[in-house]
Amino acid sequence: MFNLVIFGGPGSGKGTQSDLLIEEYGLFHISTGEVLRDQINRGTELGKIADSFISGGNLIPDDLMVSILGKVLDENTDKIANGVIFDGFPRTIEQAKALTTLLADRNMKLNVVIGLEVNDEELTARLIKRGKDSGRSDDNEETIKKRLQVYHNQTSPLRDFYVNEGLYAKIEGCGTIEEIFANIKSAVASAKK
Ligand code: AP5
Ligand code: MG
Repeated sequence: MFNLVIFGGPGSGKGTQSDLLIEEYGLFHISTGEVLRDQINRGTELGKIADSFISGGNLIPDDLMVSILGKVLDENTDKIANGVIFDGFPRTIEQAKALTTLLADRNMKLNVVIGLEVNDEELTARLIKRGKDSGRSDDNEETIKKRLQVYHNQTSPLRDFYVNEGLYAKIEGCGTIEEIFANIKSAVASAKK
């Protein structure tokens, strides 16, 4: 079993690279953003709560997010045998600590954190371009700005947290999708040694 976090700012390529990782390693993909958008599309109570945070570019409260993630893991015990890609989780130090516990409780552990490093100008350009047809309530100029602020204030401190844990693999996130994926595969291979 091999569990990884794919980490980076909004639009850094977490989803894009996850698709390639699924194909290469047969891992189970959990994007907390996708889990929440699915609830919004289905019009559930949770979806209504999530929408109020997402459309403003704010994070869903930690305790709610952690309980959702625990549920997703427990509903998919049959699918996670090869390992899991955590995409968009953790986003706060609190969530990172909770992840360690969620995994330990299930006899699992984190093997590597793939950190996609992309500058704000490139992130903004990618998201504005995608916003033309993504239908995502958070892909507009104002919310993108807020998402970047939230990323720098609440999420980027996780980089040092995982550097200290010896789990952080820095990946240059600008370049072609194929080049970036080749670097990710090298980082995975090193983490497997
Ligand atoms: P989430 O869905 O996780 O969104 P995000 O982090 O803002 O990132 P994106 O999904 O927009 O981008 P990505 O990194 O996946 O990049 P992608 O591959 O799509 O979260 C949304 C919201 O949900 C949060 O703001 C929060 O409100 C809530 N939420 C989620 N998780 C939470 C948590 N744990 N706690 C609390 N709240 C939470 O690529 C982006 C674009 O760039 C695409 O168009 C793609 O084609 C393009 N692209 C990809 N790679 C390249 C490349 N190499 N060169 C050029 N273009 C590229
Ligand atoms: Mg994504």
